[in-house]
This record gives sequence, C-alpha cells and structure tokens, in this order.
Amino acid sequence: MFLITLFALAGLIEAQVPGLDFGPVFMMQRTTSYLVEYSGVLRVPKVPDSPKGLVVVWPGINTDARPTNLVQTCIGAGSAIKSFCPGGKVAANQWCGFTSTNIGITAQRSGKGVPINENTDLLIAYKYDETTKQFAQTLTIDGKEVSRQSIAVGKGNRFNTAVEVQYGFSGTVLQHTYKNNTFKFAAADPGFPKSIMKAGGTTYSPPASADGGKTWTVDLITIPDSSYGGARSAKGKAGRGS
Ligand SMILES: *[C@@H]1O[C@H](CO)[C@@H](O)[C@H](O)[C@H]1NC(C)=O
Repeated sequence: MFLITLFALAGLIEAQVPGLDFGPVFMMQRTTSYLVEYSGVLRVPKVPDSPKGLVVVWPGINTDARPTNLVQTCIGAGSAIKSFCPGGKVAANQWCGFTSTNIGITAQRSGKGVPINENTDLLIAYKYDETTKQFAQTLTIDGKEVSRQSIAVGKGNRFNTAVEVQYGFSGTVLQHTYKNNTFKFAAADPGFPKSIMKAGGTTYSPPASADGGKTWTVDLITIPDSSYGGARSAKGKAGRGS
C-alpha cells in the first residue's frame, strides 16, 4: 500500500505501516473547482541503493470521497513486498511503474506494472470523465501506453507529489523532475498559484494560465535529493522538511 497525502494523517497511518516517511513535496491543497485533468512528465532518477524497504515516487490526486481516495500512478522500488510489481518483473536497478488507486486509505488497486530504467521520461496523465465519473490514469513511455486504470473514486480536489518510504528503507532518493505539468479544472480557479505549498527544498516554476485560470501549467517541478533511515542520520537533518 502506498498511502496518503495528508501529513496530518501520518500519525494515524504510521502505526500500521512500519517506517512510513515522506520527503520533499509540491502540493495544491485546495480549489474552488475540481480537477478534470493532470498530466506531467516525470523523469525518474537512479534506483536508490537500500538494503531493505520500499520507496515510491508518485504524483497523486486526492478526491472528495470520505474517506478520501487517491489517484496515484506509482513508480517504486524495493524488496520488502514480494509482489510489489503487479504482474511485472524488475531487475534490482530498475523501477516498477504502474497505474494505481488508493481506496479509502486502506486498499490499493493497481494496473499493470512495467520495468523502468533510470532517466526515463514517464508521461503520467489523469483524466476525469464527467459521464462515467471515472478517473482514467495512463502511464506512457516513448508514446506507448504501458499501464492504464479507470475507476470512479470521486472528484479531485487536492494534488501532491510524494517521495514515500516504508519498511526500513535507508538510502537517498536522488533529485527528480516533473516537466510540463498541466492542471485543468472544471471551472476557472484563479487562486491556483496561491493554493500551492512546497516543503523539503522543492522548487517550481511560476504557474501560468492562458485561459483565465481553467488550465494551469507549471513548467518544471524539481524534487531535490532526500535521505531516509540510517542514510538520513548519517547526513544530519538534510533529508526532510525545511
Ligand atoms: C504539455 O502538456 C499538454 C497537456 O497534456 C500537451 O498538450 C502539450 O503537448 C505538452 N507539451 C509538451 C512540450 O510536451
């Protein structure tokens, strides 16, 4: 399970997921409308070297369901969970990428997993269908769709990127970027730039809209190196927060 986006909930979840921790983040915490689309190109770094545990990098949309659901294509690596890569096999130096939805904070439903090499550009797209009420998630590499999932889980009202670790992960997740981030709302939300928060050294380009605030583009989000577990202790407090 790759859990939650709300730091407020971390305490609640920590009891259930050993070693849960989060790194630098870019997030949109509120909107006067709801998201009908997000897309961005994630370039994944080298797979971190950790003797154990799990690391997952993901951009997610939380929905207005209670408890919330999370549209969450995952790029992960780790040995802690044997069947971690759904339907796929990966080498030690590869990530596994798959479309996925976290339902009610406790259940995970995933699309097909595929091996991914470092420095691959991954087009991650979430589109809300007003008729079926489903979010369609697609993961596309070099123009080829490799994983897809569509589930009705509510309307998207928050967004965040995450670096998430579990089960005793100890290592450094290297800097990675999200390019050409596009946020499209059902109705114009001129407050989008002010709804953004960041932590842990994340940087982002100024949001721009050419249609009065219905569609926003953030050219580049850069998530810096972050360290966890023993690797963080070794580096002092460089790993998280700021
Ligand atoms: C950026 O994303 C938008 C929305 O998905 C797309 O229409 C556009 O072609 C993309 N631009 C580049 C340079 O990839």
